[in-house]
Amino acid sequence: MTARRIAILGGGLMGHGIALVFARAGHTVTITDPLPGVRSAILARISGTLDDLGASGDALTHVTVVDTLEACVAGADWVIEAAPEDLALKQKIFADVARAAPRDAILASNTSVIPIGQIMAEVTPRGRALGTHWWNPPYLVPLVEVVRTPQTADDAVAATMALLREVGKTPVEVRKDVAGFVGNRLQHALWREAIALVAEGVCDAETVDEVVKSGFGARLAVLGPLENADLVGLDLTRAIHGYVFPALDRATTPSPYLDELIAQGRLGFKSGEGFARWSPEQQAALRARLTRHLKASFGAPASATEPKP
Ligand SMILES: NC(=O)c1ccc[n+]([C@@H]2O[C@H](COP(=O)([O-])OP(=O)(O)OC[C@H]3O[C@@H](n4cnc5c(N)ncnc54)[C@H](O)[C@@H]3O)[C@@H](O)[C@H]2O)c1
Repeated sequence: MTARRIAILGGGLMGHGIALVFARAGHTVTITDPLPGVRSAILARISGTLDDLGASGDALTHVTVVDTLEACVAGADWVIEAAPEDLALKQKIFADVARAAPRDAILASNTSVIPIGQIMAEVTPRGRALGTHWWNPPYLVPLVEVVRTPQTADDAVAATMALLREVGKTPVEVRKDVAGFVGNRLQHALWREAIALVAEGVCDAETVDEVVKSGFGARLAVLGPLENADLVGLDLTRAIHGYVFPALDRATTPSPYLDELIAQGRLGFKSGEGFARWSPEQQAALRARLTRHLKASFGAPASATEPKP
């Protein structure tokens, strides 16, 4: 393996986790964040996550925290941005990166839903700009969507897919730069319907979640929706769609029901109540259950810094 120089912009939830993946695989990682408090805590945060994974702390020797964007991207082979989901902020970051990074560095945004072409508006040359959409937690969920724009060079996509495979991820190529890419379009189509069912009084929020977790969700990790359509037959699928599509929610704006909850201060975990009430203990228990499930399903990716069993 050739050790690559990976620059990460943003040391929050996703940035520290993405840094950890590359460092565990033996790559050289530089990371920065504009907040001094975040910068000074990044190594401890990565160390804590390595502990949670039962992994050795050796990966930390591959990570350097620096104070500025310029120091972070100097000499980088890849620059991965994991700053807040704000188009103007991301545009400014990449305008600066395009000036400060080597001209052949590949520039990637971890945006959840914003089209990559909009984020990279000021970047030249544009062939090196693409999206790498990781999923939380990035060290456990295998998928990374590699998103191309009409200008993205084939070799930038191929090199990024190869790098991601090598560090144990499952990259997929998204051929069109559409809002939400593939994963979040699917996920939020489901959430729109889930919220509509509750808003219309068809069932309560707990029931929606039970139907997913004990029903079709139990199959999803091994049976994708289109595999499932083949399994049951496209003729049956066609018949079902004829009956149910006219009844599905087709809103093109966020749900007024969600606005009502937000207006009541019901923001979810952060306010102690969203669709349900969440004590700190219940929040911790749900997070622990999720981590246990993902660890059991996907384990920790193979790494160059730790001998394989
Ligand atoms: N949280 C998720 O589940 C998830 C999943 C996939 C993608 N994403 C996307 O990843 C990105 C980061 O999300 P997060 O959850 O890590 O957020 P976060 O708030 O945990 O971290 C963002 C970090 O970026 C820093 N930051 C602010 N301005 C910056 C700048 N100019 N340059 C560099 N860093 C800057 C902040 O100080 C903060 O530490 C967002 O675009 C988000 O939509 C998030």
